[in-house]
Amino acid sequence: MSWRMGRKNWMTMRTGTMASERNGGRGDSYGDLPLVVESVNKRYRRGVHANRDISFEAYSGEVLGILGPNGAGKTTLVRQITTELLPTSGEIRVFGVDAVKDPIGVKSLMGIVPQEAQLFEMLTVRETLKIFGKLRGLSGRDANRRADEIISELRLDAHRNVVNVKLSGGLKRRVMVGLAALAEPGLIVLDEPTTGLDPQSRRDLWNLVREHSSRGATILMTTHYMDEAEALCDRVGIISNGRLLALDSVERLKSAHGYEFKVTYSVDGKNGASETIYGKDDRELVERVRARGVRQFSVGRTTLEDVYLALTGDEVTDGGSNAE
Ligand SMILES: Nc1ncnc2c1ncn2[C@@H]1O[C@H](COP(=O)(O)OP(=O)(O)O)[C@@H](O)[C@H]1O
Ligand SMILES: [Mg+2]
Repeated sequence: MSWRMGRKNWMTMRTGTMASERNGGRGDSYGDLPLVVESVNKRYRRGVHANRDISFEAYSGEVLGILGPNGAGKTTLVRQITTELLPTSGEIRVFGVDAVKDPIGVKSLMGIVPQEAQLFEMLTVRETLKIFGKLRGLSGRDANRRADEIISELRLDAHRNVVNVKLSGGLKRRVMVGLAALAEPGLIVLDEPTTGLDPQSRRDLWNLVREHSSRGATILMTTHYMDEAEALCDRVGIISNGRLLALDSVERLKSAHGYEFKVTYSVDGKNGASETIYGKDDRELVERVRARGVRQFSVGRTTLEDVYLALTGDEVTDGGSNAE
């Protein structure tokens, strides 16, 4: 059995984490939420329906991850939020400002690191930050000051006078996040910021994201890494074929379906095939497989990957035995 969450359940889950709950009742007033996406559809000219009826909102200071495989529609969604693409239908508001009606206003409220971002190769790190500061309207003196601040925040002191072309992939992404954060925006949008980075650079970037979020910025980031979504994001939206299938904290995504634990065991006579059953109670799961005469099994906590595969209907085999 694979469980696919119907629209109705999904709406129920969403109401479980309204802004007011998250902020201990303080609440963002609806219009002031960092991001509201309402029934967004995007059809490209050649007929690809890349975003289908996507609705969600982001709350102050959270790291919101959009997780999905290549081609799921993540970049399409991001590019509508950053006003590079117009939605075919639906609405997007950033701190209450309409992205279609006032794209310049919306862009001034956010910092963006696009998926294919590039730096001017022959500028140094400091020159890059300074020039972008000036483009953002800072005076020469303020642009210098801000460049130095960011260099120290990003711990790029040793690289301040290095030309961008000589930086490692991880350091380049650091500089890009610095550019996005230059004007201290309330919303930072990162499209697959860690794709292609080595493990240490990924972790450095996670820390940077955490720092910005702890200072109150809302982070919207896409990823196709399950472990990244699980380790870094306060809430994760799962996107597949242009649809947002669920969005909640990883713990809630797991527990909403009683999928906190799993027991995996090999199936006799099936060429080493294994089956997995899921449930709320690990001891009860163990009893169930023991009752079937299974002696070799492994018990573990459900990962986001399990939830993901179950939601997207991909190849989770549980032998039809998880009906509770
Ligand atoms: N400019 C475009 N014109 C037509 N189809 C596009 C365009 N950009 C993306 N697509 C298609 O839209 C779908 C979603 O793409 P994308 O948003 O880039 O996904 P992701 O970022 O999750 O990999 C894919 O099928 C892709 O081929
Ligand atoms: Mg993409």
